[in-house]
Amino acid sequence: MHKKLVVGNLKMNPISLVEFERYLNMLEKELKNKEFEKTEIVICPPIVYLQKLLDRKIENIKAGVQDVFWDYQGAFTGEFSAGMVKSVGASHVIIGHSERRKYFNEDGKIINLKLRSSLKSGLYVVLCIGESEDERKKGQTVSVIRKQLKESLAEIGPGKMEYISVAYEPIWAVGTDKIPTSDEILEAKIIIKKTLAELYSPKVAQNSRLLYGGSVKSNCAGQVCVDPAMDGALVGRESLQPYELVKIAKIIDES
Ligand code: PGA
Repeated sequence: MHKKLVVGNLKMNPISLVEFERYLNMLEKELKNKEFEKTEIVICPPIVYLQKLLDRKIENIKAGVQDVFWDYQGAFTGEFSAGMVKSVGASHVIIGHSERRKYFNEDGKIINLKLRSSLKSGLYVVLCIGESEDERKKGQTVSVIRKQLKESLAEIGPGKMEYISVAYEPIWAVGTDKIPTSDEILEAKIIIKKTLAELYSPKVAQNSRLLYGGSVKSNCAGQVCVDPAMDGALVGRESLQPYELVKIAKIIDES
C-alpha cells in the first residue's frame, strides 16, 4: 500500500524570502516530535523559494513545485523544466491546477505534455481535475471529469500511474470555503476509478491514489478526506498556516 499524501500548495505566497523563512521555522516547530506513520507531506512553494526549502531538510517534508514547462531545455524565456526541478532534489509537481487552466489557458494537450515530461524526469505528479460550478449545475460533472482524465493521461502507460496522484478539485470549492458533501466526493471518486479502470485496468484503478482539494481545513478534513476514504489532500490557503497543515495531516494519518 502506498502512503497517503498531503500537499501544501502555497501558490504565490508568502510575499518575501524573510516571510518564507519564518514560515519554515513555524513548520519545523509544528512537526517536532510528531510521527507520521502512513502520510507524506509535500510543500510546493513558489519556485524562487524551492532551494531554501530543500536546504532546510525538514524531517517529514518533501519538496515540490506548482508547475513545470513541457520541454526539457531551450529558448523558453521564464520557464523551467521538470528535469531541472528533479536535479535540485525536489520530488513532486502539481500539474493542471485550475488556476493554471484559467489564467494561463492550459488545456488537456498542454497538461498531457507537462505530465509526460514530469514522469520522464522522475517526478511524482499531482494531477488536478474538477468541474466548475456552471458545469455542475448543467449536469456535466461526469463528462468533464472523464474528459480531463482521458486528455491528461493520453499515451501514458499503466505502469506510470504509480507516480500519479489524481486530485479531485471541484473549481467551485477552490478558495471559496464551499465544500462538497462526502457523497459528492464519493461520486467523483467512483467516476475517476471507473475511468481509470477503462483506460488501464481495474487493478490500476484500485491502486491509484486519489486526493481531495478545495477549501480543506482541519475542521472539515474528516468530511472531505476521511469519510469518502480519499488518499490525502491538496491544501491551498490552510497550508500557509503550519499549525493547520500539520493538523490536517495528522487527521489523515490517523484515519
Ligand atoms: P484552497 O486551494 O485550499 O485555498 O481552496 C486549494 C488548491 O487550490 O489547491
